[in-house]
Amino acid sequence: MAFAQAIFEECWPRWQQHFSQTARLQLGTVELAALTDCTSDLAGHYLSADELSRWTGFSQKKRRTEWLGGRLAAKWAAAGLLGEATVDWQGLVIRSEEDGRPYVTSVSQPVAPFISISHSGPLAAALAANLPCGLDIQQPGAKIHRVKERFASLKEEDILKTSLPKSFPETERLTMLWAAKEAVRKMVQTRPLLGFMEIRLLAGHGGQGTPQKPLALTFASGRESAACPPNIAVLCFFANNLAWAMACPPMSTKE
Ligand SMILES: CC(C)(COP(=O)(O)OP(=O)(O)OC[C@H]1O[C@@H](n2cnc3c(N)ncnc32)[C@H](O)[C@@H]1OP(=O)(O)O)[C@@H](O)C(=O)NCCC(=O)NCCS
Repeated sequence: MAFAQAIFEECWPRWQQHFSQTARLQLGTVELAALTDCTSDLAGHYLSADELSRWTGFSQKKRRTEWLGGRLAAKWAAAGLLGEATVDWQGLVIRSEEDGRPYVTSVSQPVAPFISISHSGPLAAALAANLPCGLDIQQPGAKIHRVKERFASLKEEDILKTSLPKSFPETERLTMLWAAKEAVRKMVQTRPLLGFMEIRLLAGHGGQGTPQKPLALTFASGRESAACPPNIAVLCFFANNLAWAMACPPMSTKE
């Protein structure tokens, strides 16, 4: 989806101010509709032999399409971050840890970036970064109201309400908080993953919830572990009826 990448390029200089100054991020997105009838010949152009064999092994068409979309978006983002002039698609391999966490290996580059993948509705998206990162995209829906006690405290709801314009609908507000916590869970490398209520929203720093003026949030990871940074910055916005959340280490006071 060239649209999301165009937004990223336009807005990154402003978004950068919320993250560590050393953070470099790259977004990749793929429209899933373009992949539903993808053949093995075509997929084989972009996937390594291992990836192709995994892809052909999925029996459910939806999962097959989402998995492929996530891999293509991740390769695109990683190649952008690594600055490869000619991309060796098959040599840039997206693997997964036992718990599902994706990572990148590259035959031509010594240092591979961090990667995070998400799929929802019509889109697969991936974020590549030189620091730990988390990405989540989420379609809003009424179901979020039924599960809100599982992921949102009253204090967090209050912070969101006061950080966003009054006209911002509750469904969209809750969906953004859900996506933000999913992005934090994906970024922080703990086993088991952080629980939704373990992650605490500390502060909202305003914003309109748009790509140009995203909602900026600060979270605490809430678990005593070397892998858990004290604070995490998350930028949230709505674009194309999807909630987007990107997590990365925040700017430190020393920067
Ligand atoms: C992993 C999880 C955070 C994904 O979030 P989601 O909103 O349901 O789905 P999304 O489409 O946004 O994200 C899916 C992607 O998250 C990534 N992911 C999966 N596990 C992950 C983990 N432990 N850490 C970071 N990212 C992970 C994968 O790349 C996955 O896409 P892929 O399977 O196509 O590669 C969520 O499903 C979850 O909590 N799962 C529980 C996993 C678990 O406990 N597994 C135990 C197995 S040992």
